[in-house]
Amino acid sequence: MAGRFITLEGIDGAGKSSHSSFIADRIMARGFEVITTREPGGTALGEKLRSIVLNEKMHGDTETLLMFASRTEQLADVILPALANGVWVLCDRFTDSTFAYQCGGRGLSESRIATMETWVHGHLQPDLTLLFDAPLEVARERLNSGTNAPDKFEREQGEFFSDVRAAYLKRAAQFPHRIKLIDSARTLENIRTELGFLIDSL
Ligand code: TMP
Repeated sequence: MAGRFITLEGIDGAGKSSHSSFIADRIMARGFEVITTREPGGTALGEKLRSIVLNEKMHGDTETLLMFASRTEQLADVILPALANGVWVLCDRFTDSTFAYQCGGRGLSESRIATMETWVHGHLQPDLTLLFDAPLEVARERLNSGTNAPDKFEREQGEFFSDVRAAYLKRAAQFPHRIKLIDSARTLENIRTELGFLIDSL
């Protein structure tokens, strides 16, 4: 049986990454093997592209192409082989991020990104996308309390993130069966009860 493909999404500071190990444990508790990975990144070349795209100033089209370049590597080397072997894949960000950040945030055309999506993974969509959503002030406060120096995206201003968030919410409305909205302003216990339920129902 093929593995399941789960993606985590949300604006910077929405708290998605802190739930990754809980979700992986829950999958393993069901008796499945799981790998966790991230985008951009996840392969040796992808991690190099990540450090360029998160730090260098560049044209929005270049940014989008590099996101899809990293994704192409990751699909070929990691995601598709794992799924074919019955291994579940938990990926921190995927193409919904490109629609939210490059289309919503940077204003690139949606149809252009959709064309690249079809080109790179027309045959594959996540089985489940967990979209962590929090008000901008909550996300900003979480980001500010982090210890790492902010990257290019994290240094963007409120208006950018409100556009990214709006694009995410639009996608959730467009694909309600795949994208589950997780209100991450709730207690940890409350969030994990919901995550456990969603994972167990896959
Ligand atoms: P993160 O791994 O800490 O979430 O950071 C990755 C950053 O890259 C985040 O700010 C969102 C951004 N990003 C895009 O702009 N487009 C994409 O397609 C992906 C995968 C990430």
